[in-house]
Amino acid sequence: MPPSTPMSLTLAGKTILITGASSGIGRSTAFEFARTSPTNLKLILTARRIDRLHEIAGQIREEVGEGVKVCVRKMDVGREEEVSNLVASLSCEFRDIDVLVNNAGFMSGVERAPDIPPSVIDSVWATNVTGLIHMTQAVLPIFKKREHGGRGDVIMLGSIAGREAYAGGSVYCASKAAVRAFTDALRKELVGTRIRVISVDPGQVLTEFNDIRYRGDGEKADAVYAGSDPLKPDDIAEIIVFAVGRRENVVVADTLVFPTRQASSTHVYRKL
Ligand SMILES: NC(=O)c1ccc[n+]([C@@H]2O[C@H](COP(=O)([O-])OP(=O)(O)OC[C@H]3O[C@@H](n4cnc5c(N)ncnc54)[C@H](OP(=O)(O)O)[C@@H]3O)[C@@H](O)[C@H]2O)c1
Repeated sequence: MPPSTPMSLTLAGKTILITGASSGIGRSTAFEFARTSPTNLKLILTARRIDRLHEIAGQIREEVGEGVKVCVRKMDVGREEEVSNLVASLSCEFRDIDVLVNNAGFMSGVERAPDIPPSVIDSVWATNVTGLIHMTQAVLPIFKKREHGGRGDVIMLGSIAGREAYAGGSVYCASKAAVRAFTDALRKELVGTRIRVISVDPGQVLTEFNDIRYRGDGEKADAVYAGSDPLKPDDIAEIIVFAVGRRENVVVADTLVFPTRQASSTHVYRKL
C-alpha cells in the first residue's frame, strides 16, 4: 500500500464528480485524483462519449486497484434535463458528492461576427455557460446540507480567454468571461459557508480542444501550437488536485496558468 501523504489524507473518502472526463484536462484530473488518493476515493466521470469513460474507468482500476471506485454516466451538460436527473440516477454510495469539477467545454470555429453560425453560438453557450451553471445548481444542495452552512468544493475551468478576448474567439471568450463572473458572484454568495469556489484559468494546453475547434482539420489544429510548448493536461490536473487537497480553511480562489512561453491570449513565443 502506498504511504499516506497529507494530501491523500485530506482527499480520503471524498466523492468527486468531473464533467468532460472523456478527454484532455477532465481525463487527466480523474487520474490525478486517483493517483493522489488511491486507497479511498469515489469518482463520478461524466461526458457524452460513454465508451471512453468505461475505458478510463478500467485504466484507473488497473493502475490503482479497487481503492478508487469509479461510476460513469453519459451526460450532455448542455441538456438541462440530463443534468437535473444526474444526482438522482447515482447509487447512494456515490450521491454524497464533495467535489464538483466543472470542466466540460469547447469551441467550434474561428468565425467572426456577423458570420458565426447560430448553432455554434447556442451550443457553446449551452455547454460552457448554462451547462456549468445547471451543474453547479444540481450539486450545491448536497453541499449546503452539511454543517456550518455547507461544505464542498466547486472547481471552474475558465480560460485566459475569459480575461483577455481575441479576434476570432468572441463567443468562446464571452462564454469564459461569463464563467468568471458567475464564479466571482458565487464565491461571494457562499462566503459564510465552508464551500470553496476555485477558479482555474489555463492558457494553451495540448488536448483535443483544437481538433474540435478546427472541426477535424488536423493541420490547422497543429498549427496553433507549432513552435510553442503548450501545457499538458496533467499540468492543469495537478493544480486542481493541489487546490482541493489544501487544508479546509485555505481556498486557492483564482489561478492563471501559462506555459512558460505564453504571456497573454495572443502573446506566445514561437521558436522557428
Ligand atoms: N485546451 C486548452 O488550451 C484550454 C485552455 C483554457 C481552458 N480550457 C478549458 O478546459 C476545459 C477542458 O477542455 P480540454 O482542453 O480538456 O478539451 P478536450 O480534450 O476537447 O475535452 C473537452 C471535454 O469536454 C467534454 N464536453 C464537451 N462538450 C460537452 C457537453 N455538451 N456535455 C458534456 N461534456 C462535454 C468532452 O467530452 P464528450 O465529447 O465525450 O462529451 C471532453 O471530455 C474546457 O472547459 C476548455 O474550455 C482549455
